[in-house]
Amino acid sequence: MKNLNYLICILLGLGITLSSCNQSQKTNGALASSAAEKVYVAPGEQDEFYAFLSGGYSGNLTVYGLPSGRMFKEIPVFSQFPTSGYGYSEETKPMLNTSFGFIPWDDLHHPDISQTNGELDGRWIFVNGNNTPRIARVSLSTFETEEIIEVPNSAGNHSSSFITENTEYVVAGTRFSVPVPQRDMPINEYKGNFKGALSFISVAPDNGRLNLEFQVLMPGFNYDLSHPGRGKSHGWFFFTTYNTEEANSLLEVMASQNDKDFIAAVNWKKIEEYVKNGGGTKMPADYAHNVYDEETHTGTSTMIKEVVTVDPTKVPGALYFLPTPKSPHGCDVDPTGQYIIGNGKLSADLTVHSFDKMLAAIEGEKFDGEAYGIPILKFEEVLAGTVKSGGLGPLHTEFDGKGNAYTTFFISSEVVKWKVGSWEVIDRKPTYYSVGHLMIPGGNSRKPFGKYVVAMNKITKDRYLPTGPEMEHSAQIYDISGEKMELIYDFPTHGEPHYAAGCPADLLTANSKKIYRLDENKHEYATIGVDDARVERKGNEVHVYMSTIRSHFTPDNIEGIKVGDKVYFHITNHEQDFDVPHGFSIIGQGTSEILVMPGQTKTSLWEPKKVGVWPFYCTDFCSALHQEMQGYVRVSPANSNIDLSWSLGE
Ligand code: CUA
Repeated sequence: MKNLNYLICILLGLGITLSSCNQSQKTNGALASSAAEKVYVAPGEQDEFYAFLSGGYSGNLTVYGLPSGRMFKEIPVFSQFPTSGYGYSEETKPMLNTSFGFIPWDDLHHPDISQTNGELDGRWIFVNGNNTPRIARVSLSTFETEEIIEVPNSAGNHSSSFITENTEYVVAGTRFSVPVPQRDMPINEYKGNFKGALSFISVAPDNGRLNLEFQVLMPGFNYDLSHPGRGKSHGWFFFTTYNTEEANSLLEVMASQNDKDFIAAVNWKKIEEYVKNGGGTKMPADYAHNVYDEETHTGTSTMIKEVVTVDPTKVPGALYFLPTPKSPHGCDVDPTGQYIIGNGKLSADLTVHSFDKMLAAIEGEKFDGEAYGIPILKFEEVLAGTVKSGGLGPLHTEFDGKGNAYTTFFISSEVVKWKVGSWEVIDRKPTYYSVGHLMIPGGNSRKPFGKYVVAMNKITKDRYLPTGPEMEHSAQIYDISGEKMELIYDFPTHGEPHYAAGCPADLLTANSKKIYRLDENKHEYATIGVDDARVERKGNEVHVYMSTIRSHFTPDNIEGIKVGDKVYFHITNHEQDFDVPHGFSIIGQGTSEILVMPGQTKTSLWEPKKVGVWPFYCTDFCSALHQEMQGYVRVSPANSNIDLSWSLGE
C-alpha cells in the first residue's frame, strides 16, 4: 500500500509531498467511528445542507446532501438527458438552441446561488456553459432549468457565473480573447487586436429573467475567474487575468513570462450609470435567449441581434488593474468585502489586496503605468498581505465566516486554513488527490455557514474500487467546526466538478415544488379533462392528446397512423400527487422517453418507419399495475385508407 501511494505521488509529479500521500493509509478504528458519526444521516433522516456540484463535461448540475454525500438528483442544463427527456422533448429542445444551432452539450463550470443583501436567498442557481458561451438560471423551487442565454463576443466562458450581492447581475467573463466582432484574420495578429468581453447580465427581481445589459471590451488577456465585491466593495467586480503577455501559441511557456498579471477591478455601478445615460456602442450580434415557461411547460428560443459594448477607457474611474503574481487563477473576496485574494497558480504565496487601500491608491493616483489606457495601481499600495502558505499551486479560496480562509493547492494536494488579517497558516490537510475547487455553503457571501468544506479533487486513483481506466472524481468532506480540519468522508461525484454552491436545506425545502397544478396548465396541447383526449391529423402530422393516471393512458389504442407520419404524443399527467411521474416510450423512438411530472404536459415526437402494431408503455414504476400501463399504435402503409381512431377499454 505504501509503495502504491509512493508510486501515485511520483505519477502525479508530487514527490515533494510524500507526507500527504503517506497519510492516505486506512484511518484507525477509533477515529473512523467518530468521523462516521459526523456524516451519518440515519435512514429516514435528512441532510443539513444542499450541495450543488457542477458536472463539468457532463453539462449538468448534480445535487448532493451534506454531510452524507448522498446524490439526490442530476439537473440537466446544457446536455440532453434521457432520464427526463430534457433536450429530447419538443418543449425543451428550444432550451439548447444557440447561434450555432442546436448544441446539446456544454462544459458546466461554476454554480452560484442568488443573494439578497449579500446572503443566500435560495431562489435560483446560476451556472455557466464554458464551451459555447451560455449562462443558465435553474429554479431552486422546481430544480429545473428555466432560462439559458448565450453570451456573444465571448469564448471559453470561464470567469462566470457569479452574481452581485442583490442578484442585480450575473456576470460572465471570457477566458479566451477573440476578434470582436469575429472576423477572418491571421492568428498571429492577436496582440493588440483581440478583445476580452466581460458581460453583465441583469436578473429581473420578480421572475429572474435574464437580459444582457452591456459588455465591457477589455484588452486581449485571458479572464480566468471572478467574484463580486460585497459589503463595502459592493458595486465592484474583480477578475483574475493571465496571459497578459497576449501570446497566441504555446501558452504554457509564453503566457508565464510576466512576473505579475492583473486582477481587474471593475466598478460596474459606474458603467451601469454610463450605459443608462446612453453611453456605450450598440453592436450587431447574434445570440440565443431561451426561456422555459412554467405555466405552458414550454421553452421558446429568441435570437437577439444587438449588444451594447463599452470601451472601459471611455468611463473614467471604472477600471483599474491590480498587479498580482503569478498567473492568478481563483479570485475570491472575503465576507466583509475588504480583501481580494489572488491565487497565483505558479506561486507558493497568496496575494491579498485591500479594498480600502485600492480606493486610497486610486484617490492618490498611485499608478504604475497603464495597459491599453487602463491604470495599473502600484502593487505595494494595494497589497494587504501575503499568505506564506508553504503549499504549491494555489487555486481557490473560501471563507467560514469566522475570520478564516481555506485555500486549495493543486500541486501539493492540500487544503490550507489561514487567518484573514494576520495571514498566518493555522492548519493544513492533504486531499486525495490534486484538489481543484472547494466549497463552504455560503462561502462566497456575507454569511458563510462554516461547518463543512467540500474539496473537489481532479484525480481519484486508489480511493474507490477501480472502474476501468477512468474513475469518477472524488470529493472530500472536512469538518471545519474546530481549530483543525478533520477529513470525515470521501464520495464520488459525477462528470468533473468545477466549483459548487451549498446552502442550508431549510432555505429550499419550504419552497420546493411538489406538483404542477393541472388547473394552471396552459400548455398549447394539454389534455385537461379525460374527455379531451383525442387524435388529430394535419396532413402527415398527427397530434395525440393523451392523458395519464395510475395506471393507464387515455387513449391506449390508436389506429390510422401511417408510415411517414410525424406523430406528436402530447402527454398530460393527471396525477396531483407528489412524486408520481409517468413516463412514455414507444418502440423505434428517435429521441428518448419522456418523464412527465404531475400536472405537466410533455411532447415526444415519433416517426414510425415500419408497418405493424407497436406497443408503448410507461417508463416509471408508478403503481402495482405499472406493467399494465401500456397501449398499441397500429401503423399502416403510407397509402392506406384506415381511418384515424382511438379508444380506451373497448
Ligand atoms: Cu405510469 Cu408506470
